[in-house]
Amino acid sequence: MEIKLISKKKENTLALGKIIASFAFKGEVIILSGDLGAGKTTLTKGIGKELGVKEEINSPTFNILKCYFSSRLPLYHIDAYRLEDIPRENKNIGLEEVIEGDGVAIIEWPKFIEEFINYDDVLDIVIKINENNEREFTIYSKNGKFLDLFNKLKKEYKL
Ligand SMILES: Nc1ncnc2c1ncn2[C@@H]1O[C@H](COP(=O)(O)OP(=O)(O)OP(=O)(O)O)[C@@H](O)[C@H]1O
Ligand SMILES: [Mg+2]
Repeated sequence: MEIKLISKKKENTLALGKIIASFAFKGEVIILSGDLGAGKTTLTKGIGKELGVKEEINSPTFNILKCYFSSRLPLYHIDAYRLEDIPRENKNIGLEEVIEGDGVAIIEWPKFIEEFINYDDVLDIVIKINENNEREFTIYSKNGKFLDLFNKLKKEYKL
């Protein structure tokens, strides 16, 4: 399943996050790719808000992993940006427990922790900034658990 949609402003990305979160399930993994400033953390904020996270979600670049337990499902927000040059054996900072764990894991810069990701299971989101400074989202998954979400998105965005 794959869909493409445009987000013209931050608020649209937050609203997309809200829809994604309304289909959240235990063990869900969402990977977010795209350049610096593409909107990965903004989407995560939208998802977190809908899940009921009370704290402010911000970029965890200096933390790598942030855990939120105030939501209806735990939210694990991973920013792997700083793990690029770290050897594999030093990368596992508890990632195995939180990816496909008891909550929802959202991973920014998944390419730097590929060895921890089952690509067949994830919701794979790629964000591109186009010439009008809009965000082009490509949302892809092989996992049937996301079928209802895809149907909802098709309806909502008239795709
Ligand atoms: N349609 C849009 N969707 C999301 N963000 C947008 C949009 N248009 C403009 N922006 C702006 O782009 C920026 C996106 O920043 P954000 O922190 O979400 O990016 P990021 O992909 O997480 O970057 P990084 O790789 O540095 O973590 C914000 O300043 C936001 O206001
Ligand atoms: Mg970010």
